[in-house]
Amino acid sequence: MKIACLGSGKMGTALLKGIVAQGLCAPHDITISDSSPAARAAALAAIPGILEAPDNLAAALPADVVLLCVKPAGIVPLIQSLHQLPSKLLISIAAGIPLAAMDPAADHHRVVRVMPNTPALIGKGASAFSPGRLASPDDCATAASILNAVGSVTQVPEPLLDAVTGLSGSGPAYVYTIIEALADGGVCEGLSKEQALTLAAQTLAGAAEMVLQSGLHPAVLRDQVTSPGGTTIHGLAALESGGLRAALISGVRAASLRARELGRLA
Ligand SMILES: NC(=O)c1ccc[n+]([C@@H]2O[C@H](COP(=O)([O-])OP(=O)(O)OC[C@H]3O[C@@H](n4cnc5c(N)ncnc54)[C@H](OP(=O)(O)O)[C@@H]3O)[C@@H](O)[C@H]2O)c1
Repeated sequence: MKIACLGSGKMGTALLKGIVAQGLCAPHDITISDSSPAARAAALAAIPGILEAPDNLAAALPADVVLLCVKPAGIVPLIQSLHQLPSKLLISIAAGIPLAAMDPAADHHRVVRVMPNTPALIGKGASAFSPGRLASPDDCATAASILNAVGSVTQVPEPLLDAVTGLSGSGPAYVYTIIEALADGGVCEGLSKEQALTLAAQTLAGAAEMVLQSGLHPAVLRDQVTSPGGTTIHGLAALESGGLRAALISGVRAASLRARELGRLA
């Protein structure tokens, strides 16, 4: 499989790193193009052996799959600029830009809309995708295999991609805030900043792994570690009265709403 990556910034490079690490294709089967020389150089340095093209058309022409990894505002013009090429599978990772805007611009190309997240950089991403008008089951399987290379992937009806954006697309930032706040609590109680941060981050990672590996509902796992009159129930009660759960729900909903707004502006 030959892959072109148009826009080789943070997410483009993360996806390519995973693709190469998983052996989905060899580095010399990947060609990047980026309007920023610095981003181009960084991607070439991060993934030895990949090729660069002088422009987007030259990168995309020999490719079976074209990853569109530019900022949302640039997606539709970028797709329009590919008109003269024969039919390609275009995979867009742009937040908020709906298939209703991309499909007409793509004309004969097949489009898959994807929402990845930044832990893809270390192979721990969480992605969802929706196929466009002309995308076949094979195209969906190709998109899924690329996203699987950098973490987990699931297919959703397109309207739900804005919810995915609000949850897992923006989610790493929420979790960083939670880790920082947990660590601050530890520092208040006398732990060093380094110790507190490590304990907080590892607690998040370990608890998340417990949910994923056990298949148990988080409420069941929480119940297992909450003894009557113990420390945990007192901590949980304080968090509930501080509105933690409601704040997280509101955060996901606000980010999803913003993703829908971005889509309308496209
Ligand atoms: N970062 C995240 O957390 C995240 C999560 C999920 C999805 N996404 C999506 O991923 C996409 C890329 O985000 P990013 O964070 O990787 O951005 P980024 O680091 O800024 O990378 C985008 C790169 O594309 C270049 N570019 C712009 N227009 C181009 C064009 N027409 N042809 C070729 N290259 C072009 C940019 O160069 P210039 O700087 O010169 O413009 C930049 O180097 C966005 O659509 C975003 O919504 C990001």
